[in-house]
Amino acid sequence: MRDNIKMIPTYVDGLDEALGGGIPEGNVVLLCGNPGTMKTSLAFSILYHNSHNGRKGLYVTLEENAEDLKSAMQNMGMENFHESELYLLDMGRLRLELAEAETDNDWLTIFEGVIREALRVASYSLIVMDSLESLYASKPPPDPRRHLFNLFGFLKDAGVTALIISEIPFGTSRLAEHGVDFLADGIILLKQFEAGDSNVQLRLRCVKMRKVKHERADFVLDIAKGRFAVTRLEKA
Ligand SMILES: Nc1ncnc2c1ncn2[C@@H]1O[C@H](COP(=O)(O)OP(=O)(O)O)[C@@H](O)[C@H]1O
Ligand SMILES: [Mg+2]
Repeated sequence: MRDNIKMIPTYVDGLDEALGGGIPEGNVVLLCGNPGTMKTSLAFSILYHNSHNGRKGLYVTLEENAEDLKSAMQNMGMENFHESELYLLDMGRLRLELAEAETDNDWLTIFEGVIREALRVASYSLIVMDSLESLYASKPPPDPRRHLFNLFGFLKDAGVTALIISEIPFGTSRLAEHGVDFLADGIILLKQFEAGDSNVQLRLRCVKMRKVKHERADFVLDIAKGRFAVTRLEKA
């Protein structure tokens, strides 16, 4: 890794070492996995811990409403956060309202406008979009690949480090649709792994991370008191 690249720590025990310090600043990273693999919780925890270390976070939720998300995260032990440091932007409701008003064609433009304005008025270091599929839920754009290219370009121009959550439906092996895996600077994959007859482990793998020489091994992912940790398989 070159010295001039700033790294944003994930504050996931063991992962920052595996990544050579964290996520390179300005990278747009895909966080993907089947439903229930803790994508939301992990992304939130990265923002949560960064918000306590001087880096403001913007969590854009398009799926769960902000109150439900907040209470789920509090139940996991991520309790003390303030809107001024970690802001939950609930875009799901707006999306539904626009869909009902049949102004759906404007949705992606409106979405980007809101994000652009949020990034302009507050100096967010990190942004999460949860999820890409929800962004396109009511109506995908005519050329999704082009839209994603522009969206990723806009995030990169904004200089913000972005985590984009992407849901892999059960039964598919593709990491992501529309070539988003090629566009992303990084891919972190979460999966459930059946370990023995009754035990299911959560595993994490860094598939790709531009600008760093990272480990490619599978790690076991655990959470305790609001803090995630990864352990090498042979030590788990
Ligand atoms: N304190 C906890 N420790 C471990 N797992 C939890 C805890 N609280 C909730 N979960 C589990 O986390 C899962 C949901 O995580 P979530 O981040 O919403 O996943 P995803 O976004 O990938 O669908 C559920 O299966 C839930 O049972
Ligand atoms: Mg989720």
